[in-house]
Amino acid sequence: MCGIVGYIGTQQAAPLLLEGLTRLEHRGYDSAGLAVLGGSGLKVAKQAGRVRALGEGLPKRFSGKVGIGHTRWATHGPANDTNAHPHTDVKGEVGVVHNGIIDNAATLRRQLTDDGIELASDTDTEVIAHLVARSDADTLEGKVRDALASIDGTYGIAVVHTAFPDRIVVARNGSPLIIGVGDKEMHVASDLAALVRYTTTVAHLEDGELATLTATGFTTFRADLTSTNKTAEKVDIDPASYDAGEHDSFMHKEMLEQPEAVERILRGRLDERFGTAHLGGLNMDARETRAIRRVKILGCGSAYYVGQMGASLIEELARIPADAEAASEFRYRDPVIEPDTLYVAVSQSGETIDTLLAVEEIRRKGGRVIGLVNVVGSAIARACDGGIYLHAGPEVAVASTKALTNMFVGFSLLALQLGRVRDLSVADGKRLIAGLTKLPEQIAEIVEREHEFAEIAKRLAQAESLFFIGRVRGFPVAREGAQKFKEISYRHAEAYQTSELKHGPLALISPEVPTVSLVPQDELTDRNVGALHEIAARLGPLVVVTHADVDLGELRADRIDVPRNERELDPILMTIPLQLLAYHAALELGHDIDKPRNLAKSVTVE
Ligand code: AGP
Repeated sequence: MCGIVGYIGTQQAAPLLLEGLTRLEHRGYDSAGLAVLGGSGLKVAKQAGRVRALGEGLPKRFSGKVGIGHTRWATHGPANDTNAHPHTDVKGEVGVVHNGIIDNAATLRRQLTDDGIELASDTDTEVIAHLVARSDADTLEGKVRDALASIDGTYGIAVVHTAFPDRIVVARNGSPLIIGVGDKEMHVASDLAALVRYTTTVAHLEDGELATLTATGFTTFRADLTSTNKTAEKVDIDPASYDAGEHDSFMHKEMLEQPEAVERILRGRLDERFGTAHLGGLNMDARETRAIRRVKILGCGSAYYVGQMGASLIEELARIPADAEAASEFRYRDPVIEPDTLYVAVSQSGETIDTLLAVEEIRRKGGRVIGLVNVVGSAIARACDGGIYLHAGPEVAVASTKALTNMFVGFSLLALQLGRVRDLSVADGKRLIAGLTKLPEQIAEIVEREHEFAEIAKRLAQAESLFFIGRVRGFPVAREGAQKFKEISYRHAEAYQTSELKHGPLALISPEVPTVSLVPQDELTDRNVGALHEIAARLGPLVVVTHADVDLGELRADRIDVPRNERELDPILMTIPLQLLAYHAALELGHDIDKPRNLAKSVTVE
């Protein structure tokens, strides 16, 4: 949440910072701001709204070759001009941008006010600027260190000071910061997305680490000012993967990339001969794997719903009791951590604080936790005992699509490996492998039909409220479908088990409330179709995501047939049309697809 950029070098900072902020805007888009150090001191421009408006309104003489920038997702105080970052001290000598939350901000604000300092904003961040200004250390590094000594909480910060115009000092505790090394220039950002156009030679700061950037290099150190001697490394990343290209949105691009994303996660991980998966990153031998008695999956939002799909896969294929829980609730119920349970944290960003804190809780209590994570080297990936990288490629849209699909495939691989050290037969292992291998082509077939779904989506977009229903394997699909729909269309979309409909929600069915129903060809098809008749009898409009051989009889419904695969893999093929329905409904309603209101890509605050 929130994005940070910084630049020091030989070029004008403002255009580079604006470009970086545009690339980070998915992380927060309530307000944006810049501060540059030039001949006439520290200049700050900041305002509520988008980065583009900030750039358009920037004063002509906003020059300086050192600068910091920020795009915000509001935590303390509303999204207005004053609360936008950068924040400054009373004299306007110190500029600070900050990601994270200062837990003792209220106390620090009170102390500063008691000392006669008039605070300009409602934010926690502003206190950092005042604390840096008040420190009597004679270096910027010392001043930042002194300020941080009073602070409890999480932060990624970048600080500039008029008395030290040759440097930016940055610090990390819980919120990522990456230093980018250019030619006679240095960059810093909270996400690689803002750096890749300028450099792919980077250094990731660790928690508790600080760094000084000058035009010619960087040094890293701890709070006691001892060096950590970090060096930069080249990362293998295609800058084009951070561009939307010819697509109207990143979400559209990312949905269409799903076939290749699935190919990537499968590459080198299928063992056709023994009908199993190769998952070396789990760091568990066969004996340890066999000793697992239970699997507990933890994730947030859509990652939690895919976790529920994963739990079904593991129970079905490996016959190990498995369930998923919202990571945001987990540690608050003082969970019992069992030595023979395998805990699985699932996250696209690898930054979601609730998931990270759940991982830390498990490890503190001696549990074993593995990660299904997309972002390599992210906090969650590093906090786990092992894991499976998702290899979905960078995901920028707030509405997650390709990463979720790869989470599902990751769970299929895990289920296969767990199953094959137990009772899953070679034949069943091979059956699953054949199914997984078919997925990219089948997903491509679905996304190619998006115009067919667009027509249905236009009708759904007219409804204020919708149901998404499914049973057993189909229920997490319904939850994810409803989540995607509400996230970007802002329509009320509620997921229910089809079997539960007549225990209450049927009262809401009417011609104004459509239902999107998941009806795979499986042991529950007849019951599912029966429920559809009950909805139709109450004149509820129906969209049915199903298989071509399912007979819906006389039922009036918009029908979306998806290709058949192995029944265990049906959930992911049924999820894809729901992404496209949500996307086309949001498009019809004229919404900003990649930046839905009130949300941000990575939720790094509790
Ligand atoms: C997905 O569309 C959502 N934006 C959201 O629910 C997301 O899946 C959740 O916040 C978890 O994010 P993570 O995968 O980065 O941990």
